[in-house]
Amino acid sequence: MNRKYRKTIIAGNWKMHKTATEAKAFAERLKGALPRAKRCSIVLCVPYVDIPAAVKLLKDSRVAVGAQNLHWESSGPFTGEISAGMLADLDVKYVIIGHSERRALFGETDHIINQKVHAALSAGLRPILCVGEDQDQRELGVTMEFISYQLKAALAGVTPEDMRRVVIAYEPIWAIGTGNTATPEQAGEVCGAIRSILRKLYGARIARSTTIQYGGSMNEANAEALLAQEDVDGGLIGGASLDPDKFLQIIHTANQD
Ligand code: PGA
Repeated sequence: MNRKYRKTIIAGNWKMHKTATEAKAFAERLKGALPRAKRCSIVLCVPYVDIPAAVKLLKDSRVAVGAQNLHWESSGPFTGEISAGMLADLDVKYVIIGHSERRALFGETDHIINQKVHAALSAGLRPILCVGEDQDQRELGVTMEFISYQLKAALAGVTPEDMRRVVIAYEPIWAIGTGNTATPEQAGEVCGAIRSILRKLYGARIARSTTIQYGGSMNEANAEALLAQEDVDGGLIGGASLDPDKFLQIIHTANQD
């Protein structure tokens, strides 16, 4: 973390977990136990149907509500889809885009991800753009080439002005939901390399102020070491965000002086 230049953001990604009733109980517990110090921002990316309850309960708290997906068009014949404008209207502030599960299981291409980034920005949402290599790519030594490609494709046409609202999440696929967290050095190295790519694309100022999270089996036990890396500005947390006590512990860690 480097709080002098950029925000630390701790974000939960609930994936397809928790009903609206369960979300309410979680939000109440979280709200009642948040630290007073505000050294990190907190986001909860919940399933679509949990959004109204989460927004209502977390209103006037420092926790922002995020979504996990959106459609790139603003409206139209897209049965079952949700637009950026619909999310913004519910007071959603963030949206995860390009998560590896969506890329792998729902066929999201780099082009689709780029369109989604633009849709989010146009509606005033902050995209949390996920990038990351798989096991083979890491073993073949092409991690940074691959991530550089993902970043350039997803950010094509994004202006420097809009880039100020983009959050990047480095999520190595081999670390997601596996318990195989990247070592702090591995996470720090790739997050640092991502910042160098952003520097080339957008200049030093924007690169320095962009929040770059790490995600992939981050939990209350390893958060401190990961966040101690200069270029790791927070976490995108799946499994450990489902338990309010674990999530709170990570928040407390990010809040430390
Ligand atoms: P995990 O998920 O923390 O359960 O590994 C992270 C993510 O997929 O964003």
